[in-house]
Amino acid sequence: MKYTEEMLASQACVDATRNERLYAELRRYTAQEKQELLRNYHPDYSHKDFSILMVGPNKGDKVPSELAAVLEGKSRLLSADFDLSHIEHDADVLIIGGGGAGAAAAIEARQHGASVLLATKLRLGDANTGMAEGGIQAADKENDSPAIHYLDALGGGHFKNVPELLKCLVMQGPAAIQWLGGLGVMFDKYDDGTMVTTHGGGTSRKRMHACGDYTGAEIMRVLRDEVRDEGVEVLEYSPAVELILDEEGKAAGAVLYDFDTQEYHGVRAKSVIIATGGAGRLHYQGFPTSNHYGSTADGLVLAYRAGVPLVYADAIQYHPTGAAYPPQIYGALVTEKVRSLGAMLVNKDGEAFLHPLETRDVVAASIIRECLARHKGVHALHGPALWLDTPMVDMIHGEGTMERRLPAMIHMYERFGIDIRKQPILVYPTLHYQNGGICIDERSATKIPGLYAAGEDVGGIHGTNRLMGNSLLDIIVFGRIAGREAAAYSRTASLGALTVAHVQRFEEEREAAHVKNGTPSPKLLPNYTHNRGTRG
Ligand code: FUM
Repeated sequence: MKYTEEMLASQACVDATRNERLYAELRRYTAQEKQELLRNYHPDYSHKDFSILMVGPNKGDKVPSELAAVLEGKSRLLSADFDLSHIEHDADVLIIGGGGAGAAAAIEARQHGASVLLATKLRLGDANTGMAEGGIQAADKENDSPAIHYLDALGGGHFKNVPELLKCLVMQGPAAIQWLGGLGVMFDKYDDGTMVTTHGGGTSRKRMHACGDYTGAEIMRVLRDEVRDEGVEVLEYSPAVELILDEEGKAAGAVLYDFDTQEYHGVRAKSVIIATGGAGRLHYQGFPTSNHYGSTADGLVLAYRAGVPLVYADAIQYHPTGAAYPPQIYGALVTEKVRSLGAMLVNKDGEAFLHPLETRDVVAASIIRECLARHKGVHALHGPALWLDTPMVDMIHGEGTMERRLPAMIHMYERFGIDIRKQPILVYPTLHYQNGGICIDERSATKIPGLYAAGEDVGGIHGTNRLMGNSLLDIIVFGRIAGREAAAYSRTASLGALTVAHVQRFEEEREAAHVKNGTPSPKLLPNYTHNRGTRG
């Protein structure tokens, strides 16, 4: 589907201002301007679309209404044909989730001598990790240090990052890159073997390591192979629907649902790692999403019902540049790397209206203001959108740059007759990431003995706004920590009688609070008869 007449007319304005914009120095917003933008235009600051939790460890807190619906939903176990004599698998470590964090944890736990069962909702590797594009941050260049990385992430996160978690992330960044490289991840390198690195929004040093613009796919390719090579037992199409505890309240396994047979099975394990990923498919506030089909906040539900608190569960990341057109790729990620390489965001009149490498929340809010308050957007599918001036990349860095550094972007659009080397593309914020999640410490441990969490389902590392590339880093750093810690814990742990009494207790709390919500929870898969993510 090619551009409409209206789009082409606006595109002519973008073409007309390109040369004069090419080397223009765009001003950064002041701190006060940023605060004002966020308050008025970022979806996290909306006065509707949030609910106050009535039950559970975060009772009284504000979270997106769609998240409240699953956190306070009805356990599937209450109507399931399951009892605890149905234990079909035993393992030292049970990992719930087959994305990057789950895979890194599985590899590490195996290498520390544990027997590992990895249960995943879809296939091993079907996760947001494989869809990550722009890169992974790590401070391993001479002009950089973990301390500078720390300060960048702290500022980006509005100074709300949990210091111990952020310290762990940045200190272990260089080792994470080495580990991945050693396993066979093919990072972009110069002829002399040094890593190609770029800026992301909010970074003061070029520390984004990448594999073209398919970094996550390359990392997941290698991790998936390694999981198989390590002899990890993998159960696919088997989402967890509840945790199992023992009579002393320690983690003791999980109840899995088999999508094929529609039966429930128990896994007994001395330690459990939750690594189920994000929540984009809950489509907060009707936004489209860049997330994987399985991203429905399952891990948050499992942990919450067992009594583990969440941190910053109201802080959501809207990636500034989701594809707004054509319809087939609505909401898909257009990597920030396009802006790292110089492409500007431009309104319908061809005007650049902000520095393209402000932090994500600020860029998203600025785009929303330009479209909804200043009416400077181009009419696209579900509302106005703005131009990302992609032809600037080759003009700045030389012909062939996009082909080398953004091949997946070129491919995504050429299927619809759009050559992004020659024509700009229409973008609007898309639901990309949950900044908050399960509360853990620097050992990836939750408050429940033997229960660990890693990856997008944990909160606190990134404060209330994550910087690009720190998520691929956190899945490796905290996935590996969780794997090691869970394996070590399982060596001395002994389990008492198994129980799912916490599920009944949660149900009683719901009844006492008159929670009427009968939504089966965890949600497991999105329901597209109700909400397709079509923001108005
Ligand atoms: O824009 C991107 O490539 C996304 C990266 C990230 O979320 O870290």
